[in-house]
Amino acid sequence: MDASVSRSMILQLLVAPRESSNAVWLRVPTFVQMSTYLIIACILTLLILITTRSRKRVKLSGIHHPLRLPPIVGIPSSEIFTRPQEAYESALRDHGPVVGVWRKGRLEYIVGPEFTKDLFSDDQEFSFEDGVATVLNLPSIFRGSRFFKDVHLMISGGVIPKMEEIVDKIFPIFQRQAKEFVRQSETSGQPVDLFEHSHRCISEAMLIVALGQHHVNEQNIKLTEEVAHAIAIMTGIYQNTSPFARTFPVCWRIITWGRLVCEVILAKYCRIILPIIWKEVRSRRYKPLDNASPEQTDEEDSRDDPLLHYIARIYADGQGKVSFLGVVWLSILILAFIFASVHQTASVAVWVMFELSTRPEYLPAIREELAAVADSVDNTGAHRLSYESLRRASTLDSFVREVLRFKGDTLSLTRETTRDVPLGEFVIPKGHLVIPLTTLTHQSQSIYGDTATVFDAHRWTEGPPASMVSLNYLPFGVGRWACPGRILAIIEIKMIISTLVAIATPELEGGKYKVVDPLNITSVPPVGRLHCKQL
Ligand code: HEM
Repeated sequence: MDASVSRSMILQLLVAPRESSNAVWLRVPTFVQMSTYLIIACILTLLILITTRSRKRVKLSGIHHPLRLPPIVGIPSSEIFTRPQEAYESALRDHGPVVGVWRKGRLEYIVGPEFTKDLFSDDQEFSFEDGVATVLNLPSIFRGSRFFKDVHLMISGGVIPKMEEIVDKIFPIFQRQAKEFVRQSETSGQPVDLFEHSHRCISEAMLIVALGQHHVNEQNIKLTEEVAHAIAIMTGIYQNTSPFARTFPVCWRIITWGRLVCEVILAKYCRIILPIIWKEVRSRRYKPLDNASPEQTDEEDSRDDPLLHYIARIYADGQGKVSFLGVVWLSILILAFIFASVHQTASVAVWVMFELSTRPEYLPAIREELAAVADSVDNTGAHRLSYESLRRASTLDSFVREVLRFKGDTLSLTRETTRDVPLGEFVIPKGHLVIPLTTLTHQSQSIYGDTATVFDAHRWTEGPPASMVSLNYLPFGVGRWACPGRILAIIEIKMIISTLVAIATPELEGGKYKVVDPLNITSVPPVGRLHCKQL
């Protein structure tokens, strides 16, 4: 081929407009296309380089330590994501009691149960806030801010002391939805989605708790569900189930956060819920917390108030008003409340119901107990349950506690070192996640005896209740940062189970369910085809 021909062909390929030659367009990229591909390739390469953090040697921060770094154990990703319990247990058995393991581009330190106490009693060196911010992909503005303390205060002060009133308000939702759920299952003859049911019930209930009954409507319930789901995705709850997200975590985070912040948080939450919060809060004058001049405010009895007003009162100035920035901060706290209160509880409720369906021998005792503790029973067999009667349902409580102990959480709790921290004969370098392997505690023979690996739902009938934490029982963490919503969570799970088993028998197709993410058992609900047969 002569030079002038080849030059003109190249020129034609580079400058030929799209319309001039469809055939060439299909086969050979134009100059514009080639440049676009080049730019995309550069961006992807850059993201991959950032994402796949180089596994450089970990260094201590300049201080001389007589202790040594823990051994780094290579566990293939396939093992971590499919059989984490066996993989981590064998790493600790062979190299323990502290091992470093790379996961999703990050070096984490996994520790045995002998270090649980150190980890959860020293918040100065093992930071809950930094650990959670890292694990949940939260932007760095959340580190060191008042965020976690305010969320904790909001729940422990604004929700838990009002449990009796809250249960009276939300129990009818669970009962109504349970009847509808069973009716659907019966009339369609098809399996029903229990996670959808639990998520929906809890979203409606939490909307009442957060903003009050008068803001409950179909649009706001759907929005609450959507927000809880979007934040669950953003915080990486489903990250393990996507190969792309596991391999390129930073890249995945940028794309997911960008999309969901725009589509859900800005376009929906800020458009619909923020104006409600603004109107509610700005139209009130709050009683100052020190009670200095209560007669000048327009507040009645605050006990019946939704959570929003409880937390707004803390942010009110001397005149009882909340500033513009205060309202923005309250909206962020309510967003956090929706996420914390909906997703995980809905997921654990599925665990409990699926376990009960595979162990129907426990049903008669649970039903008998419900009939005994109920305040009343209607003509469909449905019970009216108060907070007190739900608390007294100890057979159900024991079942829930045993499911929480037994379901196989592995890396469910985390702390981050704020400096180089000695642990046993090792030192954990600053800025690293330290994670106890929870199964080693929950299935320990030295704690639970010979039946440690046996499911026994009568184990806790004499107590302690499912919400009580200890170093031997970690589903809700332990210590200063133990889950502040655990009493509400257990009561809600009991409401979901009791309203369904009072009127129907749950049956899993094939008597089995599937664990979707063995590494994130608490937050990712198992999958199964559930039928509810009306009694
Ligand atoms: C079955 C359902 C739930 C489970 C298994 C669960 C579990 C946990 C765990 C393991 C932690 C971390 C504790 C630690 O690292 O020491 C935690 C923290 C937290 N949970 Fe829950 N939780 C549940 C339901 C709830 C509910 C219903 C709420 C809200 C009403 C809530 C609010 C929080 C908050 C705000 C934190 C952050 C820690 C703090 O502020 O002290 N959780 N939860």
